[in-house]
Amino acid sequence: MHDPLQYEGKRVVVTGAASGMGAATASILTELGAEVHGVDIAEGSAPLAAFHRCDLRDPEAIDRTVAEIGGPIDSLFNCAGLPTTAPGQITMQVNFIGHRHLTEAVVPLMPEGSSIGFISSVGGMGWLNSLELLLELLATPDVASAGEWCANHEIVDLNGYGFSKEAINAYVAKRGCELAAQGIRLNSINPGPTDTPMMPAFIETMGADFMASLPRPMGRNSTPEEQAWPLVMLNSPRQSYTAATTLFTDGAFAGGLNTGMLDFSALG
Ligand SMILES: NC(=O)c1ccc[n+]([C@@H]2O[C@H](COP(=O)([O-])OP(=O)(O)OC[C@H]3O[C@@H](n4cnc5c(N)ncnc54)[C@H](O)[C@@H]3O)[C@@H](O)[C@H]2O)c1
Repeated sequence: MHDPLQYEGKRVVVTGAASGMGAATASILTELGAEVHGVDIAEGSAPLAAFHRCDLRDPEAIDRTVAEIGGPIDSLFNCAGLPTTAPGQITMQVNFIGHRHLTEAVVPLMPEGSSIGFISSVGGMGWLNSLELLLELLATPDVASAGEWCANHEIVDLNGYGFSKEAINAYVAKRGCELAAQGIRLNSINPGPTDTPMMPAFIETMGADFMASLPRPMGRNSTPEEQAWPLVMLNSPRQSYTAATTLFTDGAFAGGLNTGMLDFSALG
């Protein structure tokens, strides 16, 4: 079978294309024959059709970038992110608010059958427990009002990273339901610990002992490619009935946690 994932000749956008999972995603998509537009604050070495320098904290820069790329856009891969070492308010601006603005700017350029995939995190798996609060945030219409909402909610300062990932999962479920009716699929992956340049930031905030003793049913962290491939597959037209949902790419962590299979007694 030729081109089984159907990316040949497709125009795709990858945020965070300079590093880690975003770079792995951009490399795979280029290899599959897509026209890959990388969006990042930094320029990396992954092969791209074009690089667009853009700070996701800046909505005007996002609008300029989308205009520069132009339509049609067949797939959007929202891979950029800030880790737990960054201040919570800024983390929310990049991980959720800026990506939501980008997504909403790209949707009008998407033909029927297009797809959007976010990299969330297994750290956002508890989003249903915060649903009431998250629905308030989702109801904010733009970057300014979302930023104001965050400034008034302590959870963003206390756990901006985890909350940003919960917000992504909630947005994917709610907005994904609306977009599905327009023939556009919105989904996310929820990775577990992955060896990328972000990993030292998690070790710095959580502690080396905690990170080392975190239960890993598969006995190891994932590689960036082990996250990029499921994301590429999720956004492929082959997944045409998969929408508004999240795929756990966490080496069995969530399954084990939900069913009491994991031993946390050695947690540092
Ligand atoms: N590494 C892990 O263990 C892990 C686990 C779960 C989820 N994640 C998530 O995976 C995604 C990819 O992270 P990674 O591990 O590949 O990290 P990474 O640090 O290698 O890549 C993050 C990329 O985001 C870009 N970026 C940061 N701020 C930006 C901004 N303001 N505007 C535009 N681009 C910006 C960076 O320049 C970088 O290229 C992130 O959303 C992260 O939260 C990571």
